[in-house]
This record gives sequence, structure tokens and C-alpha cells, in this order.
Amino acid sequence: MNFAKAAWPLAFVLITPFDPSLFTNDSCLSNSFYGNYLDGSKTFSVLRPDLPCLETWTSQTLAPSAAIAEAIRPIQQLVWLEEQAIDESLKAQTRSFRNEFDAFLDTLEAHTASQSYENLEQELMDTAHSRDSYELLYRTPTSALLSVHHDKARTIDTIVPRFWKSTLLPTSAIPFQPVPPSSVEHARRVLADLKFDPVVASIVNNISVGQMYNDIRFLTGEDGKSGIISRHSFSKGALTAAFWLKARFEDTGATCELKPFLIGFAPNVVCRYSALTNTSSTVLFSAHYDSRGSFGSTRAPGADDDGSGTIALLSIARTILRKGIKFHSNVELVAFAGEEQGLLGSRAYSRELRAANANLTIMVQADMLAYREPGEPRQLGLPDVVGSPIVTYLVANVSAIYSPELRVGFTPACCSDHKSFHEQGFPATQVFERAGPIIDPMYHNSGDLSERLGYDFEQIRSIAKVQFATLLHTAGYQLSK
Ligand SMILES: *[C@@H]1O[C@H](CO)[C@@H](O)[C@H](O)[C@H]1NC(C)=O
Ligand SMILES: *[C@@H]1O[C@H](CO)[C@@H](O)[C@H](O)[C@H]1NC(C)=O
Ligand SMILES: *[C@@H]1O[C@H](CO)[C@@H](O)[C@H](O)[C@H]1NC(C)=O
Ligand SMILES: *[C@@H]1O[C@H](CO)[C@@H](O)[C@H](O)[C@H]1NC(C)=O
Ligand SMILES: *[C@@H]1O[C@H](CO)[C@@H](O)[C@H](O)[C@H]1NC(C)=O
Ligand SMILES: [Zn+2]
Repeated sequence: MNFAKAAWPLAFVLITPFDPSLFTNDSCLSNSFYGNYLDGSKTFSVLRPDLPCLETWTSQTLAPSAAIAEAIRPIQQLVWLEEQAIDESLKAQTRSFRNEFDAFLDTLEAHTASQSYENLEQELMDTAHSRDSYELLYRTPTSALLSVHHDKARTIDTIVPRFWKSTLLPTSAIPFQPVPPSSVEHARRVLADLKFDPVVASIVNNISVGQMYNDIRFLTGEDGKSGIISRHSFSKGALTAAFWLKARFEDTGATCELKPFLIGFAPNVVCRYSALTNTSSTVLFSAHYDSRGSFGSTRAPGADDDGSGTIALLSIARTILRKGIKFHSNVELVAFAGEEQGLLGSRAYSRELRAANANLTIMVQADMLAYREPGEPRQLGLPDVVGSPIVTYLVANVSAIYSPELRVGFTPACCSDHKSFHEQGFPATQVFERAGPIIDPMYHNSGDLSERLGYDFEQIRSIAKVQFATLLHTAGYQLSK
């Protein structure tokens, strides 16, 4: 290990393949964990150990694909960038797919490199100047780690190339929190006992597409009445959507709260149906209502991403009301904001639930349910990397029973809000529109409308049936009328 530059770097960032043993026993790394991030299908841990810890660690056990980034400026907001799993056919349609991101990083790198150490020293004293800076700390063909001024970091999703996802890292180290085996016991039992329940079938078959059609047109602004142009986390439209969602869920008998999590961001919408009996047991189904549009455009209708998951939750809520359903477990339906900036709303809420020692028996995030490539069957994609396998199998088995029309398989498209919960040690999974990579040509595009070829309400309904049947089997239910 060459620490020749050690006199200069202000901080080290260790990027190493995730391995739970990094955190076992008295490893000094336990106190320096900043989360796990994806590069392709590989998970890397980002750590900020102090120098003695780093030296101890690297002298023993540095994995071949580990890297140590040396920051020559004070670390500001760390931002992880990763290439999303996009279908080859969609990449082929996108001119300069590969070059786009390289050009973006080259610009940042040039910015960093153009500063000599002497200039930097000057710049560090001159905070006004260093505010503008980005520092590229680490780079692979499909991922990167940047240090970015806080003001710029919050909107970095609006400048990164379309098929890349940015995630703001936590501002301080977080404890590594594995999913304890005992927390998946309930899901395991439900899976073991799972069999067709005709009442569940009649309930989930009551989900209606008619209302979904109106709901999505409100959220996207396609109805010409809501006034929503964008649901970007900082937009006025996101607030309109938040108040509207709260009211719609409350119409169905839920108790909702708008929960702010970061200044400037629209709040999470957290809705709850309390259990019939006094129990801690809670199931949580969610989507994100914030959206992202094309570079340079203020329009971000997000009909698929993730208006579709949001209206699926609403369709479940409306059916809960129509059928007069009560639950044996607490049920939370949650619409997150800040997903497009790196799962920020769900990170805050999952940490809150962890701190409260919540008893979440399952968490299922719905993100992008609507798009079906012409010629492909209706599908349900489940995560192959991030999530609890038992919960994923439970959803797959429920799908085979209640929505046999769906072709079920794994997707490499990763990481929506379930990742936040999984990282806080809760059993979690995701439902997605395709058993393969993202193929929606309007992904992260201002043309993500509901009135277009491939936007399939019947597929949303089929997946909503799976979510709802999973909820009913896991929470336990009673019909009151
Ligand atoms: C941690 O401790 C356990 C039991 O004391 C031991 O079996 C294991 O090998 C240790 N792991 C590491 C990474 O040192
Ligand atoms: C749903 O159930 C309600 C009440 O039982 C019934 O009036 C309605 O027709 C059903 N709708 C569908 C789409 O099955
Ligand atoms: C509910 O159960 C908890 C823990 O068992 C208990 O502390 C609490 O008083 C109970 N609440 C009611 C309303 O019975
Ligand atoms: C959580 O809820 C499940 C399901 O009701 C129950 O089996 C389990 O004992 C609860 N766990 C705790 C720690 O209360
Ligand atoms: C159902 O769950 C089992 C694990 O219990 C799994 O092996 C199987 O593949 C699942 N079935 C489907 C249809 O996914
Ligand atoms: Zn999304």
C-alpha cells in the first residue's frame, strides 16, 4: 500500500466488496460504514475509516476489487453514481449511451485535475470558491463516487445522464444492520402455510382499473386539472401530490401523516390502518411519488416511475374501503419522496422505524409497474440482489396463485426504497414491471405519460392483486361487511 501522498489527503474512502465479516467482532470498520451501493450486480460497501484503522485493515485483508480513494479536499456530500440495468435494445436506441456518462465524469475530473495543490490550498481557505467544487473520488466503467457541495448534491439527479442513478450517502456513519433471522420468521410461516383462499381471491379481484385511470391522470397532470407539471422532490407539484394522496388515503379510512425528512424536500405520506387487536406486528407496502424528467426540462409526469406504484397502492386502499376489510396486523401504505435523490425519504423513515424497534414483518416496495414492451407478456419482476429471499419467494408464490397471468422472474433493475428498509434490517422486497432490465423508452424522461403505447393498466392491476394478496395473507384480515 502506497501512502506516499498521505501527508496531503484530507480523508480516505474505502470502497470494498460487501462482506458481513467486515463488521464482525471488534472490526474498526464497524464505526465507519456509509452504506452499500451497487456496481452492476456487485454490492460495494463505502467506509471512511481513520488512518490507523485503514492501515490495520489493508495490511491483512484487502479484496482485489477494493479501492482506497484519497480526497484532496474536505469531503462534502458523498454521492454514489451507478449505471442502471437497462435493456440492450433501449441502450442501442440511445445515441452515445456509453459516452454520455464518460463525458460527464471527464468534465468533473478535469475540474478536479485543473487545480494544483497550491491552488487548492488557497481555495480551501476561500470557502466561497470551494463551494463550487466536485471531487471525483472513484470511478469504474459503471459506477463512481463523488464529493459534491451540499447545495449541488441535492439536485445532482437533474444533471446526471438519464440511465444513471445518484444516491446521496448519509452524512455520518451508520451502524451495519443485518436482517436478523428471527425477523423473517413470520414471512417464512406465511409462505409455508400459503394456499389459495377464495375470499382473498374475491377481494383482490375487486381492484378496479377505472379509478386508477383517473388517479394517474391527476398525478401526471394529464387531466389538465391538477396543475401538476412535475413531482420532482422540490417541486410545487410534489406538494400538491402529497396533500392529495393524504386526502385520498384518508377517504378510505386510513390515518395519514405528512412526514418531512429533509428541508426543501416534499414529505413522505405515511398512512396506517390500525390492527383489530393490540399488536406491534406491522406490514408496510409502499411506492415513491416523486419523479424525474428529461435533462433541462421542468416536465416530469412520472406515470410509470413511479406513478404506477402509487396508484396501485391507492387501488388497494379503495378496495379496503369497498370491502370493509380490517386487519389482524397494523398495515401501513406509504408514498415516499426523495427516491430519485437516492432513497432519501425511505432512508429517513426506515431509520425512524429501526430506532423505534418496529416489528415490520414484511415491506414491499412497488416501483414501475406499468410498462410492457409490445409483444411481451405481462410480467412481474423481483429483485435478484437486494432484498430478503423469503419475502421475494412469498411474493412469487402469491403471484402464481392470484395472478397466474403474470410471468414471474428476476430483474437486475435495482434499488428502490426497499433497499433502505433492507439496510435497516427489515425483511423487504420489490415488485417491478419486467422480469429483466428496464426497457421503458420513457424511463427518466419527460414523456413518461400514461397515454402512450405500452402503458398497461391491466399489468398494474395484476401486480396490485399480488401486492394486496400478499398483504392479506401476511397481515391476516376480517371482513366487516
Ligand atoms: C469473529 O468471531 C467469531 C467468533 O468469536 C469467529 O468465529 C469469526 O471467525 C470472527 N470473524 C472474523 C472476521 O474475525
Ligand atoms: C367490488 O365490490 C363492490 C362491493 O362488494 C361491488 O359493488 C363492486 O361491483 C365490485 N367491483 C368490482 C370491479 O368487482
Ligand atoms: C398494548 O400492549 C402493550 C405491550 O404488550 C402494552 O404495554 C399496552 O398497554 C397495550 N395497550 C392497550 C391499549 O392495551
Ligand atoms: C412481531 O409480529 C409477529 C407477527 O405477529 C410476531 O410473531 C412476533 O412475535 C412479533 N415480534 C415481536 C418482537 O414482538
Ligand atoms: C415458492 O417459494 C419456494 C421457496 O419456498 C421457491 O422455491 C419457489 O420457487 C417459489 N415459487 C415460485 C412460483 O416462485
Ligand atoms: Zn422509481
